[in-house]
Amino acid sequence: MTPVKANDIRLMEKSGQLAAKTLAHVGSFVRPGITTNELDKIAHDYTLSHGARPAPLNYHGFPKSICTSVNECICHGVPDEKPLVEGDVVNIDVTCELNGYYGDTSSMFFVGEVSDDVTNICDVAKRAMEKGIEAIRPFGTTGDIGFAINKFVTKKGFYAVREIGGHGIGEEFHMDPFVPSYGKKGRGDKLIPWACLTVEPMININDLPIKEFSIPNSSIKYYETSDKTPSAQYEHTIMITDSGYEILTML
Ligand code: MF3
Ligand code: CO
Ligand code: CO
Repeated sequence: MTPVKANDIRLMEKSGQLAAKTLAHVGSFVRPGITTNELDKIAHDYTLSHGARPAPLNYHGFPKSICTSVNECICHGVPDEKPLVEGDVVNIDVTCELNGYYGDTSSMFFVGEVSDDVTNICDVAKRAMEKGIEAIRPFGTTGDIGFAINKFVTKKGFYAVREIGGHGIGEEFHMDPFVPSYGKKGRGDKLIPWACLTVEPMININDLPIKEFSIPNSSIKYYETSDKTPSAQYEHTIMITDSGYEILTML
């Protein structure tokens, strides 16, 4: 892990705060009838008007400024022209680059009234992320985070996706280490003070292989559950400190 330069900690905080504000802003527009392309434009314009750049746009050929993962989409959903309908649930994932530093955060948004199944999986995913974050301590490991997430998710009768997870972040969008949503305490990579990472567990209802889809002209893939049941994810960007951690993308 690469620690943020002492003089640049404030910049990392600023970027995280802008990502959080952008997510709340775009999320406030979610309602039946809006398209994910419209949400994309709202996030794109808001980011630019705050002096930042939407990091997903053109990232390994990704065509949009945010990811919008609807219902059975696990992550990296590409905004399109299809209107959201009552009962849908959408993960909006915002990453901005401000003054050379990245902030990355996502949340689930309900489109009108949703089923109890959707409410439950979102609640479990959010609390799983929180459990993962609470396991962070300086000189702990990524395995501590994954262990805490998976223990909670399993107890609730859900499944954490293993193939995809969190990542180091800072002067680049995706850096080492991989931050798994499963693991063993004390295993994995060491957590270094003033380095940053994301905690972003993806939670499914069933333990089935996930389906991978390609995106035209991009090396980024998007993923869906194989039985079309809804998937849920929350993400924060965290800075490890000398005494614990700071959630950079919390408003
Ligand atoms: N924001 C996603 C993450 O949490 C990554 C999106 S990459 C993209 O890591 F190209 F799809 F935007
Ligand atoms: Co991320
Ligand atoms: Co993200």
